[in-house]
Formats: sequence, structure tokens, C-alpha cells
Amino acid sequence: MSDDLLKKVISHSKEYGFVFPSSEIYDGLSAAYDYGQLGSELKNNIKQYWWTAMVRMHENIVGIDSSIFMHPTTWKASGHVDAFNDPLIDNKDSKKRYRADVLIEDYVAKIEAKITKDVVKAAKRFGDAFDEAQFRSTNGRIVERQAQIDDILRRFKEAMDTEDLPAVKTLIEDLQIADPDSGSRNWTDVRQFNLMFKTELGAVSGDSGIIYLRPETAQGIFVNYLNVQKSGRMKLPFGIAQIGKAFRNEIIARQFIFRMREFEQMEMQFFVKPGTQEEWYEYWKQARLKWHQALGFGDGKHRFHDHIKLAHYAEAAADIEFDFPMGFKELEGIHSRTDFDLRQHEEHSGRKLRYFDPETQESYVPFVVETSIGLDRMFLATLSAAYAEETLEDGSQRTVLNIPAPLAPVKAAVLPLIKKDGLPEKAREILTMLQMDHNVQYDEKDAIGRRYRRQDAIGTPLCITVDHDTLTDQAVTIRDRDTMQQERVAIADLVARVNEKVGMTQLFAAS
Ligand code: GAP
Repeated sequence: MSDDLLKKVISHSKEYGFVFPSSEIYDGLSAAYDYGQLGSELKNNIKQYWWTAMVRMHENIVGIDSSIFMHPTTWKASGHVDAFNDPLIDNKDSKKRYRADVLIEDYVAKIEAKITKDVVKAAKRFGDAFDEAQFRSTNGRIVERQAQIDDILRRFKEAMDTEDLPAVKTLIEDLQIADPDSGSRNWTDVRQFNLMFKTELGAVSGDSGIIYLRPETAQGIFVNYLNVQKSGRMKLPFGIAQIGKAFRNEIIARQFIFRMREFEQMEMQFFVKPGTQEEWYEYWKQARLKWHQALGFGDGKHRFHDHIKLAHYAEAAADIEFDFPMGFKELEGIHSRTDFDLRQHEEHSGRKLRYFDPETQESYVPFVVETSIGLDRMFLATLSAAYAEETLEDGSQRTVLNIPAPLAPVKAAVLPLIKKDGLPEKAREILTMLQMDHNVQYDEKDAIGRRYRRQDAIGTPLCITVDHDTLTDQAVTIRDRDTMQQERVAIADLVARVNEKVGMTQLFAAS
């Protein structure tokens, strides 16, 4: 895995209509991207997989679609006005701006990489007899490095918990962290930077008209807790899910669609009886991991990472990290948010946001376990895991996107072998038959081999070829993207065969 893969994914995305730089004719806008004709299909399929798993498959989870603009007090109550900050630091020589926490995390990651290298080497040397846990706890160099990591993280956590920004700067200086760009160690003080975008409402100007673009979709769920609970007669535990845009004025937005200022989240707030939150937190960690693993990206592509620095609302938090081309990074967060948000909204709105428990005859504020995944990150995870350059048996090359078939932007391509003799007409009949259920392409240009390559490059799981025999035997040849095997299938069986290959049901059978 490397930056090289990321570069290939970026250029492939542009060439085939997955992702374009935003407003490119004006030289683009930093960290803003547009999803193209295939990108928006892939994005929709990811959303559908999430929505089906979270909402449709759970009787006690419902979905909403709340507005991006919310009453400004929402963000005071939620703590975002006061606490949704990143510590930033500037390099005085290069004039580049960094997140202080990211500089420290990157430093730690380098030590971790050295440990991993030693472990891999030892595993090779000792073979089956290798006991990783024992090696990690007894090897002098690893123990020393781990102690160094623990010390850095302890100092960092202490400084952040007490909002001691000079201590964060001292840590950066003690570790002699240099500007990754220029190598300079000439740093400014660390400052807090609020990540919310502000704008003005209608004709009202001044402080009273200030409104924020939501930095998370979750608050739209919290403020609707009672509306949904009452109108849907929901009983605890129950969940509210939503997919929508979120905005953050990130200090550095980079790595393609990994970190953007405008992005999309898929979030679910699960309301539970106080005291049961730990059990639900564990439940959702495992359920969400299974959802990822069902896509079959391979063992070892996901791992949990417990947060060192908890967000202002959380009592426990873990990330599901994915092995992106840039290494393991956060893909999804699972957060135990206590009753913080609902209580804050009670206090600031003066409205009761309680649940009357018919069993205990008590009224209380529910606790919340949240699952929150970035749709754009999931898109990048899918594309980077799917991208492959292969050398085939005959020595030729193909670039293929091994996108899980149910998520593929185009599910099948219908290809008449030649452009005459009634084959295009027959092919279009088949196209119409499949189009109602799936996104299917018709392609009659170029030799069949080139058409296969074009479909491989966009990840189409099935190519359906119509030839002269089709007109008499009412059958077509199906070519599978992954095995490249070809098979004759009766047109009468085609719908069932396509459904079997690309249907979402298989993802649920696997999970
Ligand atoms: N409601 C909780 C919340 O927003 P978060 O960890 O800040 O938690 C959740 O964000 C997810 O949103 C992340 O795991 C990530 O996938 C995605 N995300 C956050 N900031 C992002 C950004 N700037 N660009 C793209 N995705 C982002």
C-alpha cells in the first residue's frame, strides 16, 4: 500500500467519471470534489447498503432527513460553539499550518511502524513457534519503544484534558517534531480553532443572524428525538438514522476525499435505558464491524482503535479503522454519548426530552450510543480496496475494479457481438428487461475484448454478449469480471442470474 496507489485511484476516478475536482474549469477549489456519473451510482449503492442494514433490517430503527440549517442555540447546547475545536500550530518559516494533535499522532505512528517491522521480522524467523504477545512484552527494543509511545500519549492526553496548550507545544518541541514540508522546527504557539462554518440568515445581519452549517448530522436527530418517539410510538431501545451533508472548516483538508470541508455522514443514534449503554456500545461495535467485513475486502483490512482524546460528548469511543493507501485511518466512529446531548437540549430549550418507561413507570432521559460513518471515506475505502492491475495468462494487462458486485455502479453490460444482423435489437430487448431493476449499460463499439476491458475498469460484474446463436437458441454468453469465465445462459434465466450475482441479499447472508 502506498501513496502510489492513492495517486492511481485519484487519476482512475477522474478518467472514468467517479470523482472530479470541484469547479475544475476555474482550477478547482481546494479539498472540494464532485461525484461523477459512476461515482454517484457507487455512492447511492453504499447508502442503500447502509440504509438497508440499519433501518430496514431493524424493526426498532427508523430514518429521518433533517435540515442542514438549525436554530443556532442547537450548537451552543451541543457544545460545538465552545468545544468543537482543533489545536492548530503554524510553522513560522514555511508559513504552513498543522493540527498539533496530528503532528504528534504521526510521530507516534512512526514508532509504531518500527515496532511492527520488528514483529514481522521475528515472525518470519520463528515461524509457527512465534508468540507475538510474548515477543512484544520481552523484546528490549520493543518494550522501550512502547514505553516511549505510552509516555507521549499520556502527556498529550493530560495536556488536552486540561486544555493546557503550552504543554502541547512543549511536547512537540521535546519530540523535536519538524515541519514535514520544510524540516523547520520554528513553531508558533498552539491555538484552538473552531471548525464550524458560519453564515448569516436571510436579511438579518450581526450576531443575532449568525447561523452554522451543521458539523454533524447527529444534532438533527437529537432535536427530533421526541417527535419521532411520539409519532412513531417507539419503545426503548430504538434508533434514529440519517444520511446527509456535514461541514467542517478543517485546518488541513487533504488525501483526496478522505478529509474534506463538505462531506456526507451516515449516522444512527441508538436511544437506550441508562445503565445498558455499555452493552449496546459493544453490540454496535461488533455489528458495524460485521457490516464492513461482509463486503469481503479481506482479513486484516479493519481494526478497532480506542480514542485517546474523547470528544466533549463521549464517555467511550472507538474507531473502525480501514487500511487505506495512506495506512490505517478512521473510517467510522462508535460513540457512547451518555445523556449529554438530550440533557443539554432540555436545558437550553426548556422542553422535557424524556422517555416514560411503561415497565418501571418512570420518566428519564435516555442514553445514546451512536454509529457514525463518513460516506466519502467509505467510497474511498471501496475504491482503493477494489483497484487492481493484473497480468493475465496470455501476458496482457487489465485494470479492474473488484468492487463488491452489489455496490458496483454498473451491474451488467449488454454487448451485441457485431452492430448488424439484428443483434443490436436483440441486445436492446435484453437491456430493457434488466434496466428496471439495475443500472445496465449498452455498448456496441470496438472489438469485444476492448469492451470487456472498459467494463473491468469501471467494475461491472457481468458482461452479457448477444451473438448470432442468440437469435435461434434464445441464450447469451455471460462473462464474469472476477473469474473471466464465460457461460451460456438462457435469456429466460437471465434476470435470476443477474439478481443472484449483484443482489444485496448476499451481503446479509455473509454478515
Ligand atoms: N456525530 C459524531 C461525529 O461526527 P466524527 O468522528 O467527528 O463523529 C464521524 O465523524 C465520521 O465522519 C468519521 O469517522 C469520518 O468517517 C467522517 N468524517 C469526519 N470528518 C470528515 C471530513 N472532514 N471529511 C470526510 N469525512 C469526515
